[in-house]
Amino acid sequence: MFEEAQYFAPVAAQEDGSVVVELSESHPGFADPVYRARRNTIAGLAVDYRPGTPIPAAEYTDQEHAVWALVTRELAIKHAKYATAEYLDGADRLGLPGERIPQLEEVSRLLEPLTGFRYLPAAGLVPLRDFYGVLADGYFHSTQYIRHHSVPFYTPEPDVIHEVIGHANALAGSRYAALYRLAGQAARRVQSDEALEFVSKVFWFTLEFGVMQESGELKAYGAGILSSYGEIEEFRGMDIRPLDLSAMGTTHYDITKYQDVLFRAESLQHLEDVVGDFWDTCDDDSIAKLAAAAV
Ligand SMILES: [Fe+2]
Repeated sequence: MFEEAQYFAPVAAQEDGSVVVELSESHPGFADPVYRARRNTIAGLAVDYRPGTPIPAAEYTDQEHAVWALVTRELAIKHAKYATAEYLDGADRLGLPGERIPQLEEVSRLLEPLTGFRYLPAAGLVPLRDFYGVLADGYFHSTQYIRHHSVPFYTPEPDVIHEVIGHANALAGSRYAALYRLAGQAARRVQSDEALEFVSKVFWFTLEFGVMQESGELKAYGAGILSSYGEIEEFRGMDIRPLDLSAMGTTHYDITKYQDVLFRAESLQHLEDVVGDFWDTCDDDSIAKLAAAAV
């Protein structure tokens, strides 16, 4: 029922206990049995994971580490031009490795001293109430697999590059981390699926695809833009609208293409005032009013 459901390849547990990731025929790794076997193994790590234990390490090939290194290097160049100061500052302090894919346990070790956030492994789609709810406790669900090496600058699903370069660098900043926590508290507070979807859409148009005015220029802070080599060059040309809760919570989006409607905060303070306050105080009634006010 939620658009995010199409974002992830389905994961199915077999009767013998093994786990199979169902890649679609259009997925770049569909015809690569070695990649598919690795995807199944990595998904199995998350399925078998028990909270409170270290996240098992995923095995990556040299080719996959090279994909991380290439994308990290190219994105860093674009971040210097297009990312907000708070994001760049967080990335500096987090100090992700540039030449190899970090294990999620390592990401947690780097992140926790900065803002208290830790990563949890996800095989694929996590139910919205869990995904957002645990943000309130400082946990972020993350996939562990990386995109197929044949197309290093493209992924149809959120992979470890998106989860870590996009989200962990943002979560390393105390002001963004506070917003993630507030989104989690909102998801825990609301009762109906409609209200939860509204909360998740506001998250989508801010912490995933948000843009912000900074020193007279439009910058990105959303993880979806900042982890996408193609999208980061395009966002300034999109249909940029003012920050508006009713619109963000009700605007339809298509996850299969570049986001063509984006919402601009005038500053980080403005984002905190509008979206932070919304997540801090919203309930089913206030959301129903906002949804009704949408034009
Ligand atoms: Fe994301």
